[in-house]
Amino acid sequence: MRLKNKLCIITGAAQGIGAAIAQLFSKEGAHVVVTDTNKDLGSALAKKLKCDFFELDVSCESGWEQLAKKYEHIDVLVNNAGITGIDTGRPQNPEKASYEDWQAVHHVNLDSVFFGCRYAIKAMRKKKRGSIVNMSSRSGLVGIPAAAAYASSKAGIRNHTKTVALYCAEQQLNIRCNSIHPGAILTPLWDAMLGENKEEAMKMCVKDTPMKRFGTPEEVAYTALFLASDESSYMTGAEVVVDGGILAGSTAAPGSDIDK
Ligand SMILES: NC(=O)c1ccc[n+]([C@@H]2O[C@H](COP(=O)([O-])OP(=O)(O)OC[C@H]3O[C@@H](n4cnc5c(N)ncnc54)[C@H](O)[C@@H]3O)[C@@H](O)[C@H]2O)c1
Repeated sequence: MRLKNKLCIITGAAQGIGAAIAQLFSKEGAHVVVTDTNKDLGSALAKKLKCDFFELDVSCESGWEQLAKKYEHIDVLVNNAGITGIDTGRPQNPEKASYEDWQAVHHVNLDSVFFGCRYAIKAMRKKKRGSIVNMSSRSGLVGIPAAAAYASSKAGIRNHTKTVALYCAEQQLNIRCNSIHPGAILTPLWDAMLGENKEEAMKMCVKDTPMKRFGTPEEVAYTALFLASDESSYMTGAEVVVDGGILAGSTAAPGSDIDK
C-alpha cells in the first residue's frame, strides 16, 4: 500500500507503460484516474481496476481545464502519453521531416508536459505537496537520427522537469518533479517499428543492449511507483534511466577483456 489513498492521474494510460502504471498504482492503494484519447481501451481498463476514466487529449489545453474542474486536488500526476511520429510512415529525420510532423510530435509530447505540470502545481498547491513524474526517454539524452522531433521533445521534457522541480522548491512547496528515461520497452508503440518479422526485428533492436532484451512496462511502472511515493521524498529534478544498461557505456568501447 505504497500509495494508499493518493489521487493519481496518469495520462496515456489505456495501454502500454501507462496501463502498467495504472494497474500497479491501483494495487498499491491509489485512487487512479486513467486518462487517454482511446476511450474504448481506457474505459475498459478503468472498469477492470474499478477506477475513473477521463477522456483527455494531452495536447489540448481545454482538456486540461476540464480535468482541473473535475479534480481540483491531486497527489500524483504521471505525464506519460507520448508518440514517436514513426507510425505516420513519413520521414522523421532532421533533413526530410516536415514542419507539421515536427510540430505534431512536440505538441503531444512536450506541450502536454507544460500543461500537465502547470495543472499539477495548482492542484497540489493547497496541500503544498505532491509528486509529478514525467515520461522522457533514453532518446531525450542522446540524438536519434530517425526520430528528430521525438528526441528533441523528450530532451525538452527532461529539462522542463528540472525547471519545475526548482520552481516548486523555491516556492517552498514539497512538490517534487522527476523524469524517467526508458530504453526499449515492449509495448504497442513498437508495432510500427518492428513490422511483420517481429522476432527478428526485436533481436536486432536489442543486440547492442547490454542486457540483450526489451524491458517490460512493469519494470518502468515500478520506477514510477518509487518516484510517486514518499520513498523518494528527497528526490526532485532527478532523471532515472531504465534502459538495460545502454547508457552505461558505449558500443565504441575497447573490445572484450583478455580473460574472456
Ligand atoms: N515503449 C518504449 O520503448 C518507450 C521508451 C522510452 C519512452 N517511452 C515513452 O513512454 C510513454 C508511453 O509509451 P508506450 O510505449 O506505453 O506507448 P503506447 O503507444 O503503447 O501507449 C501510448 C498511449 O498514449 C495514448 N496517447 C497518444 N496520444 C495521446 C494524446 N494526444 N493524448 C492522450 N493520450 C494519448 C495512446 O492512446 C496510448 O494509449 C511515451 O511517452 C513514450 O514516449 C516509451
